[in-house]
Amino acid sequence: PTETPASTNGKKQPPVILCIGMAGSGKTTFMQRINAHLHAKKTPPYVVNLDPAVGNLPFTANIDVRDTVNYKEVMKQYNLGPNGGILTSLNLFTTKFDQVLDLIAKRADSVSHILVDTPGQIEIFTWSASGSIITDTLASTYPTVIAYIIDTPRTTAPATFMSNMLYACSILYKTKLPFILVFNKTDVVSHEFAVEWMTDFEKFQEALSHDTTYMSSLMNSMSLVLDEFYSHLKVVGVSAVTGNGVEDFFAAVDEAAVEYER
Ligand code: GTP
Repeated sequence: PTETPASTNGKKQPPVILCIGMAGSGKTTFMQRINAHLHAKKTPPYVVNLDPAVGNLPFTANIDVRDTVNYKEVMKQYNLGPNGGILTSLNLFTTKFDQVLDLIAKRADSVSHILVDTPGQIEIFTWSASGSIITDTLASTYPTVIAYIIDTPRTTAPATFMSNMLYACSILYKTKLPFILVFNKTDVVSHEFAVEWMTDFEKFQEALSHDTTYMSSLMNSMSLVLDEFYSHLKVVGVSAVTGNGVEDFFAAVDEAAVEYER
């Protein structure tokens, strides 16, 4: 390809929303929801799918890793298991990421956002060289924000909540990008408990004291670490199924994109 990289003619670049989340958190449903929301507002996004193993995408991707690599073939060819196959597919795709950037750049002036869906097995993206290369190259051209999707009903136990927050924390410090915690499935369980735990340290300590799953002294020290982490992020509650909270999410993206530009 001969196109120049993303336009730098003074125009504002569209924000990249990198969707990351544990398997089953509702990442794909969330992507479908925000994609539909932007289309309904007549401000369509550019959509990139980086999950080589997704069976059925409920939205149209402008760029789909599956058009370039077949992870089942990769598994056979390199004699790998499913995770190795997905990781190797992502690595192969990343070698062509300059072409992806060129394609995005061609459309950057006419789209509102660039939505990026990542592999269902979160660590394949967050702890791989390809994940870092993709994240860093996008972030060097576009205001890039991480949307970390959380399965709210499955994170109501204090110990589980803490583990999930520590994982999110590790991603924040690794990427150093603006970070939005998206509590999904609020049609099933409201995320109010999470907001309370994140803003009132004593309430969380009290909840922890009833949770005997982990060593409480370790948990207490870890929760102090998280206090610092919370001050660096935005929190929204959404339901990817009903669409509740999606406006709040986009407001958080706008704020985060401003932060990025500072
Ligand atoms: P992987 O492909 O394994 O990464 O899953 P994912 O994170 O992409 O999740 P997916 O969108 O496939 O959703 C997982 C399950 O959660 C599905 O059964 C969805 O219908 C359900 N789900 C997703 N979002 C919501 C929500 O807001 N509310 C409810 N009630 N269910 C949801």
